[in-house]
Amino acid sequence: MINLSDLRRFKKEGRKFSCLTCYDASMAKAMETAQIDSILIGDSLGMTIQGHDSTLPVTVRDMVYHTTCVRRANQHALIMADLPFMAYANTKDALKNAKKVMQAGAQMIKIEGGAWLAETVMSLTRNGIPVCMHLGLTPQSVNVFGGYKVQAKTRQAADALLAECRVLVDAGAAVLLLECVPAQVGKEVADAFPDVPVIGIGAGADTDGQVLVVQDMLGLTQGHVAKFVYNFMSKQAGPYAILDAITTYHHAVIKKTFPALEQTFQIELK
Ligand code: KIV
Repeated sequence: MINLSDLRRFKKEGRKFSCLTCYDASMAKAMETAQIDSILIGDSLGMTIQGHDSTLPVTVRDMVYHTTCVRRANQHALIMADLPFMAYANTKDALKNAKKVMQAGAQMIKIEGGAWLAETVMSLTRNGIPVCMHLGLTPQSVNVFGGYKVQAKTRQAADALLAECRVLVDAGAAVLLLECVPAQVGKEVADAFPDVPVIGIGAGADTDGQVLVVQDMLGLTQGHVAKFVYNFMSKQAGPYAILDAITTYHHAVIKKTFPALEQTFQIELK
């Protein structure tokens, strides 16, 4: 089973690692067969599984249920699970809720935010809970952002993001996840922290790992599809098309053919 030391080693060796969201056993088994390196039980399940228009209605109970389903069926990937909206508004709640998700089978929890969560990160880490910090576009704050928009588009905003990352890494954050930032920002963050694996979604080709929402990369998402998504089903045919698409994604990440330029935000920072 892949663990945090493996992700750190991958980064040192320059070996990219794959990550996909996953919420159920059959998909978790397919990801095990495809040797996906890391799985995220994302609170995106509020949209992909539950049909809400944001991640806000997701509960800790939902996260525990889906983490249990995934863990039973996958003994290969490092498993991360989100703490949902308002489940870590204070350190006490964060510890109580992270305990539930870890006991359901997660090896790491992911929370969204910046430097103001340093104390929470420190407390979780001291209690044996590795933390992945999600920065950039953080969907639980969609109402503060006023929509799903690319973040850190100026030099000043990129420097502020780097500073937030520094505080969180100093507090003990084990992994960083960047969503929807210019490719240059993804590279700068990955380069700034040699011992901290950085996962990107819409953060360019130079982060250490890549993550996509599995429904997006299987072409199941209707309506608006984000620029950073590639439909890995589009070239598949045959009886194992889904498994083949997931395997193709894994190899594309490792061989650095995904993300291509078309899936990255090439924005000059001014
Ligand atoms: O919940 C989720 O699926 C996520 C990914 C978009 C990174 O946070």
